[in-house]
Amino acid sequence: MKKVYLETFGCQMNVSDSERVATQMSADGYEITSDETLADVVLLNTCSVREKAEHKLFTRIGQIRKSAADRRAAKPMLGILGCVAQLEGETLFSKSPAIDFVLGTKAVGRVAVAVAEVLDGQSFYTDLGEREESYEWSVAAAQRNSPYIAFVPIIEGCNKFCTYCIVPFSRGREKSLSASEIVRHIRHLRSEGIREVHLIGQNVNSYRPPTDAGLEPFRGATQFSRLLRAVAATGIERVKFTTSFPRDFHPDIVEALNENVNLCNWVHLPVQSGSNRILKLMRRGHTIENYLERIAKIQASPRRISLTTDIIVGFPGETDADFQATLNLTEQCKFSSAYIFKYSPRPGTPAFAMSDDVPAQEKTARFLELEKLIRVQQQKVFQSYIGRTVEVLAEKVSDKHPAQLSGHSTCQMVVNFNGSAEMCGKIVKVQILESKVNTLYGKIC
Ligand code: 5AD
Ligand code: SF4
Repeated sequence: MKKVYLETFGCQMNVSDSERVATQMSADGYEITSDETLADVVLLNTCSVREKAEHKLFTRIGQIRKSAADRRAAKPMLGILGCVAQLEGETLFSKSPAIDFVLGTKAVGRVAVAVAEVLDGQSFYTDLGEREESYEWSVAAAQRNSPYIAFVPIIEGCNKFCTYCIVPFSRGREKSLSASEIVRHIRHLRSEGIREVHLIGQNVNSYRPPTDAGLEPFRGATQFSRLLRAVAATGIERVKFTTSFPRDFHPDIVEALNENVNLCNWVHLPVQSGSNRILKLMRRGHTIENYLERIAKIQASPRRISLTTDIIVGFPGETDADFQATLNLTEQCKFSSAYIFKYSPRPGTPAFAMSDDVPAQEKTARFLELEKLIRVQQQKVFQSYIGRTVEVLAEKVSDKHPAQLSGHSTCQMVVNFNGSAEMCGKIVKVQILESKVNTLYGKIC
């Protein structure tokens, strides 16, 4: 039996694609191994959202070649999947002779075909084609990253074309999956013991399926909020969704959350910058005022909904005053966490033509200053949970403290608490006693 080693970079969509690649390969008679030195086939599922991610790919290819040479073993067959594959296509072969095949973001259902073609002697095998109509979206239980949490794609691609972002090019135009299929899939996951689903898409608020099938009984101002109500009605215990786009974040989404206790207390709403001038250059389609209105609605919920965000520092033309505006916004928003990125020019995006004029040192200084502020903000938010009780899905024994379990609250915070392995998979009430960087600590009530 041929062994396949699969490594994934980047976002949840890639993680989710990889789970399905592993499912298909294993159904086709391959064994999935977590030891790359045993692999006949190595698959790298790549990310192109920043330059660093692309560099990582070539570093990994070098390591894989060297590791085989050091062991005097034959180099494994090497397939490059995902976003870098989609964008670079055949040119990847000239960048590294170790690569045997290249499959784009929508060709990930055809890995077994690519392996067979390469074994047949086909060189430079490339498939950047569309997803097959019969593409199987479900994941075998053995291939899930978590036995309790499942990622469920609801929309692929992005039509927003924010000027810095490569995603509309690497993942193509928005395509929503059928609501009846999503609901059927979630019912099945529930019957298999999944406790929490994450509805995923680059832009979940743009969810617009070709028909209303599956949504008929559910009211709502947008198809996305109708989908949220439909998914809540499956009875699955916890539903989270990411990523939301501020311009399309309709207040009805908060109403759906308010009405359904299994829709979790968390919204990820990337703001990207606190300066309207920069937001306009980014072509985000929202202003700071719009953003604050959206979060006012979230914060006015009778539920306590946590808010996380993404912020880019050092976008072309970002002045000290623009950056100061980002700091001010951060002070105002009470994010429970934020992913900060230094702007990275991506060839093919509109911003690539702008001058990347914030010096690297300045980007780093802004990154560190913002990170410090976010940490202070996070501590304030975290400390406000001390004494409260939150519901936590016990996911695993803590890496550092074997007498503790670790999991996420409904508000998507990492919570560690006393408990033993047999409790994993249960949703427990935990009283929060202490807060440290990125983690809350508590005891089961
Ligand atoms: N440079 C830096 N950060 C980027 N992101 C997307 N494109 C770029 C880029 N070119 C960030 C955004 C997005 C997150 C997933 O990655 O903040 O929300
Ligand atoms: Fe990229 Fe903007 Fe689409 Fe998000 S909404 S994936 S940042 S283009």
